[in-house]
Amino acid sequence: MEFSKEINVAIVGYGVVGNGVAKILEEEKELILKRSGIKINLKKVFTRNWNKKFPYPLPDEKKAYSLDEILDDKDIDIVVELVGGLDFPYKLIKECINRGKHIITANKHLLAEKGKEIFTLAEEKNIRIGFEGAVAGGIPIIKALRESLVGNRIEKIYGILNGTTNYILTEMYGKGKNFNEVLKEAQELGYAEADPTLDINGVDAGHKIAILASLSYGGFLNFSDVYIEGIEDIEKIDIQLGKELGYTLKLLAIAKGYKNNEVEVRVHPTFIPSEHPLAKVDGVFNAIMIKGNNVGESMFYGKGAGSLPTASAVVSDIVDIAKSISLGIGREIEITSMNWEHKDLNLKKVSDFYTRYYIRFMVPDTVGILSKIAGIFAEYNISIAAVIQKEKVVGLYNGANSSDFIPLVLLTHTASENSIQKAIEKVESSNLTKGKAKVIRVEDEEE
Ligand code: HSE
Repeated sequence: MEFSKEINVAIVGYGVVGNGVAKILEEEKELILKRSGIKINLKKVFTRNWNKKFPYPLPDEKKAYSLDEILDDKDIDIVVELVGGLDFPYKLIKECINRGKHIITANKHLLAEKGKEIFTLAEEKNIRIGFEGAVAGGIPIIKALRESLVGNRIEKIYGILNGTTNYILTEMYGKGKNFNEVLKEAQELGYAEADPTLDINGVDAGHKIAILASLSYGGFLNFSDVYIEGIEDIEKIDIQLGKELGYTLKLLAIAKGYKNNEVEVRVHPTFIPSEHPLAKVDGVFNAIMIKGNNVGESMFYGKGAGSLPTASAVVSDIVDIAKSISLGIGREIEITSMNWEHKDLNLKKVSDFYTRYYIRFMVPDTVGILSKIAGIFAEYNISIAAVIQKEKVVGLYNGANSSDFIPLVLLTHTASENSIQKAIEKVESSNLTKGKAKVIRVEDEEE
């Protein structure tokens, strides 16, 4: 079969991922041509400063010194945006769409917050947006959801979508270390950014699960309404006590679909059974478990960040879009970038979450405390599945004078967040405990 033309690509932003994309496009050119029948030409790359040393240096003819060299070049079909941030890429992407250039971006922040506007404009202008690199780096989860699982209603998604936090929790669990100690080590090893705020506060994982939820449920969410809790307040005592109960702590990104376009999207530290496959995803790795009504459970595992893994995802988008352009597939038969059904999704409120809970109180070791607390939980119809009380907490608890107060942990059966919060409020206001209770949600489905 004859293909209509060579496809020209430009990259804007020549950082870690950009260098990886150029390397793969140049070094695997023949392989890509053989496999896809498409000749991909990396025509131009723009970065603000070409005087630096780059891991994958480019010949002078590929260097663009102004964005206009790319925007004004009618032969450039695809622009790969790898700048990061919000304002500049937002303007660049809109400009490219208006000029008829297809877009590839790994910018999850931008897509989670401005996705509706960008995808609407792209749809109007018949432009494809590729974003495989935006979620879970090299794991081909976007294509899996968009195409391979298209015959499924997605019942739920569980994702470990942030490598930095997974590394920290793995070290805390395996080696009994404190959060701050591991964070410092992770920064020294280059696993955590110098400013890891968006990783540890859960927002990075929030961006990624919001994108997966949009793709799975056919509409966009108001990102600021997504419930997000990070790992910054996790203490090693809870990781150790959870372990005794048979659980491993992960920063889990969760999306669940219900009737009437209702969706639940949340990110928070979560205890999962230690024998669950996701509990065994250690270190900086990412993994996603998807349950579709027809396929059942499927799990995807791999590198969620890094130059070549993310570039591998970007290149898959380049080839995918290049094929569409080359074959001249029209809109009427082409799957849209986002599987978008133009639905308004209703995000479940946090008070309506329904799950199991791990609750740790610090209590004085005196007569009747356990029965009083259990009584308050019974008032709110919350059933307790397991209890741990520790006589001594040497080396586990960093709080003041640990000998006067001991940890009392309740593991509940499934309960509503609303009733859990009310019961905890009542316990705390009854002066039975010291300080605030530690609450960690547990995903462990009960039949
Ligand atoms: N900082 C992210 C992580 C990778 O730690 O997984 C980029 O999304």
